Amino acid sequence: MPAGIKAHAPPIYQTSGFEYPSHVEAEAAGRGEVYIYSRDANPTEDRLAHAIAELEMTEDACIFSSGMGAISAALLTYAQAGGHVVSTEGLYGVTHAFITEHLLRFGVTHTLVAGTAQAIDGAITPATRVVHIESITNPLLRVADLDAIAAVCRARGVPLVVDATFATPLGQRPIERGALLSVHSATKYIGGHGDLLLGVVSGPKSEIAKVRKLRKLQGGSADPFAAWLALRGLRTMALRVERQVASALTVARALEHTDGVERVFYPTLPSHPDHEIAARVLDGGGAMVSFEVAGGLDGARRCYDRLRLIARAASLGDVTSLMTHPATFSHNKLSDIERRRFGISDGLLRLSIGIEDAADLVDDLRQSLG
Ligand SMILES: Cc1ncc(COP(=O)(O)O)c(C=O)c1O
Repeated sequence: MPAGIKAHAPPIYQTSGFEYPSHVEAEAAGRGEVYIYSRDANPTEDRLAHAIAELEMTEDACIFSSGMGAISAALLTYAQAGGHVVSTEGLYGVTHAFITEHLLRFGVTHTLVAGTAQAIDGAITPATRVVHIESITNPLLRVADLDAIAAVCRARGVPLVVDATFATPLGQRPIERGALLSVHSATKYIGGHGDLLLGVVSGPKSEIAKVRKLRKLQGGSADPFAAWLALRGLRTMALRVERQVASALTVARALEHTDGVERVFYPTLPSHPDHEIAARVLDGGGAMVSFEVAGGLDGARRCYDRLRLIARAASLGDVTSLMTHPATFSHNKLSDIERRRFGISDGLLRLSIGIEDAADLVDDLRQSLG
């Protein structure tokens, strides 16, 4: 870039490696003072990491090629053979499989409990190396009492990792509430447009240094273009999320007064079992709404197929609203008994609210239920 010129938008360093004018800079790179290779570090990805660390009110962050890259690295940073992981029931399915199948192959055992401080306290043993929770669960949107869980983990000297993807980066800052690390699938609200895959782990410098070292060994670094798209997403995230959360509340309230809807799950509704916790640990109730329709499986399939505006698609945090049917989609590997235990009925539908007009979303849901 010619001297005196500065790009207003963040530049993309779409490169695998970096070049040096002379041995002086090359030797500095060898000492780790200058960029070498994008699997280790890249300026576009660093810019995103700094922005997210600021957002999380913490010291550092490390970007991964997906949310699962971030979660697996956070867990592997602390897990070790003979060690034990405590996590909660009803986790995101791939995280559940990582803990219960993959870590187990390497001699890391686990206990999955209800997401309460008391249950987590009871599950921690001297071998426990890490506690991992989701601060809002999928699809019933149960809200963890993060303050109480963080207090337990601190008292027991066990690192707490919080996947706050459903809470959105604006709805909760887990580190401020006492977690050691915060994790997001940046694929969701940070990217915001359903066109990238990224993950991020945030926390104190000392811990992120360990996570970053693991990323280098695993090779889970992000592509600079995806990091650039996420930087662009961050510029509008506050506007998007503010609207999504406001619309989610409007839709949830409207669904409570819609024929054919038997139950609505939204964290700040007085009917939600965790609304008092939500008022304490979240800013707003997030932008996910789940609801049960009359008629069980047939009722859910009918509503799903009749949607006109809301897309029938996986994921969340997109500018467009998305619907899934957990019993036949994200949770179809569970037995009927397990699904019943987790409260996932055949008539349950999950909505990720986008930035469309809230009244249009309510109209679409009402016509699909009509
Ligand atoms: C709560 C939660 N955490 C993590 C992930 C994984 O993120 P990614 O798909 O970016 O790997 C997801 C994906 O849906 C999720 O819902």
